[in-house]
Amino acid sequence: MDNTKKTIPPIACTLFVFLLTVIPHANGSPVPVVIWHGMGDSCCNPFSMGHIKKLIQESIQGIYVLSLKIGNSVVEDTINGFFMNVNDQVKIVCDTLANDSKLQQGYNAIGFSQGGQFLRAVAQRCSKPPMLNLISVGGQHQGVYGFPGCVGNQNIVCTLARRMLTNLAYTGFIQNHIVQAQYWHDPLNEAEYRKANVFLADINQENEKNPSYKANMLKLNNFVMVKFLRDSRVEPMESEWFGFYKAGQGKDINTLFETPLYTEDWLGLKEMNNTGRLHFLSLDTGHLQFSESWFINNIIKKFLM
Ligand SMILES: *[C@@H]1O[C@H](CO)[C@@H](O)[C@H](O)[C@H]1NC(C)=O
Ligand SMILES: *[C@@H]1O[C@H](CO)[C@@H](O)[C@H](O)[C@H]1NC(C)=O
Repeated sequence: MDNTKKTIPPIACTLFVFLLTVIPHANGSPVPVVIWHGMGDSCCNPFSMGHIKKLIQESIQGIYVLSLKIGNSVVEDTINGFFMNVNDQVKIVCDTLANDSKLQQGYNAIGFSQGGQFLRAVAQRCSKPPMLNLISVGGQHQGVYGFPGCVGNQNIVCTLARRMLTNLAYTGFIQNHIVQAQYWHDPLNEAEYRKANVFLADINQENEKNPSYKANMLKLNNFVMVKFLRDSRVEPMESEWFGFYKAGQGKDINTLFETPLYTEDWLGLKEMNNTGRLHFLSLDTGHLQFSESWFINNIIKKFLM
């Protein structure tokens, strides 16, 4: 038997964690973090965003963490995650950040699920205060075409659900009142998507190109996208890395690198990739399933310290 395998004594671990927590930032205080929750969640759930906030605060001593709440209460915040125009939500967040004196020197942003693409909209539309790093955990950057739990046209219910949502999603009322319709992306009706989608088509520069969207993305130090390889809630899961179905069908995928958004660099992602600032992380788990140690090692230590 080999008994020489080294184990780190618990005291050393404790010391290591302690050291991590006291390393200050260049300007003396740690860079604040803003987090935006996903659908069905809220700012302050102790098992989700509350837990993430605590994890960050335990890892970086004295850090300011703002978990965004859209509305006046946790209940309103949860409901707004389903029913409020996303452009209005982004506007509220921009104002909130601009009003927050602790964020004026810059902040890092972490969005979970739909919070990922919403914080990207914040980065593109609101350059003050400056966002330094953007981390999208399971965000749907090219939208979704499917119901949670339905992967592909695997059964008639899923197929019908897709068709039905498509017929409804691009009507004005639904576009302005159902959050998920604002990132519904039907590859069989790309023209309709570009014309009628009020949010995602805009931030992805599908129509006229807004030069400030690209300029603002390029101000980021890093844009990190986390994809869950066994995600059954986001269809297609490739959207978490900016991939999507090739136009005209709902099966074959283009990666980000194969889209004009990248090759013609509508958003600066090509320039970011070529300068090592675009990061693709993956986890072999379902939607938003990650361990504390994964989050500490891959997100907190790499991008927040
Ligand atoms: C930001 O501050 C202005 C001026 O004090 C105030 O009118 C506005 O309601 C604030 N907005 C938010 C979202 O806090
Ligand atoms: C993106 O960046 C990576 C790492 O720098 C590089 O290997 C890859 O070729 C780039 N991809 C494209 C399509 O430019």
